[in-house]
Amino acid sequence: MIIKTAKFSKSSSSLEQCPETKLNEYAFIGRSNVGKSSLINMLTNNKKLAKISGKPGKTQLINHFIINESWYLVDLPGYGYAKTSKLDRYKWNSFTDKYIKERENMVNLFVLIDSRIKPQEIDLSFMVDMGENNVPFSIVFTKTDKITKGALAKNIQIYKNEMLKIFEVMPIYFTSSAINKSGQDEILDYIAELEMGIIDDDKCIRY
Ligand code: GTP
Ligand code: MG
Repeated sequence: MIIKTAKFSKSSSSLEQCPETKLNEYAFIGRSNVGKSSLINMLTNNKKLAKISGKPGKTQLINHFIINESWYLVDLPGYGYAKTSKLDRYKWNSFTDKYIKERENMVNLFVLIDSRIKPQEIDLSFMVDMGENNVPFSIVFTKTDKITKGALAKNIQIYKNEMLKIFEVMPIYFTSSAINKSGQDEILDYIAELEMGIIDDDKCIRY
């Protein structure tokens, strides 16, 4: 998949405000600071498209970017960044939750997980919620430039084991680095296959 154009389209603070369109979209979610905005920039080869920050909580709205004038990438606010003591369950603004569960043209939700850390309750309970609500999702293990290949393989195996305690199959997953662009081709090819209808999303990505 070649990205010819990537343009900011709209920021929204409710599902109703999101662009009225029948075009497919692919959204990115995960804990604050996991690298959602950086991944969108990496995929589009545009460091300035989505705003990134070293401080968690940077993205606060639903941001639509139109790609090749034909489909959208959607940057979402992260979860898990709250100044409350109860961080064991994912929480974020209700409009993001509504967007994810009700946006009819969202073909796939990429759930980003920091490849360096052990499975966290907050991410697992988020994915259970997605499964229960029939939201099609896949996983991206981010920041792989920060660990060795061996550690990455080990962490992914640990993750698989944990997921298989909850889900019948491991969701489709990718690894990525915004620094060395690993994962770019795989994720864009996956989107291209979904765009062309090659992957039957009922079989592959609904759990
Ligand atoms: P929120 O909008 O706050 O939810 O965060 P986000 O998930 O959009 O994260 P963002 O892309 O803003 O990145 C957070 C920090 O992680 C920034 O300092 C990025 O430079 C860094 N970062 C993101 N991806 C990578 C990566 O693949 N490798 C490395 N080394 N750093 C990364
Ligand atoms: Mg962000």
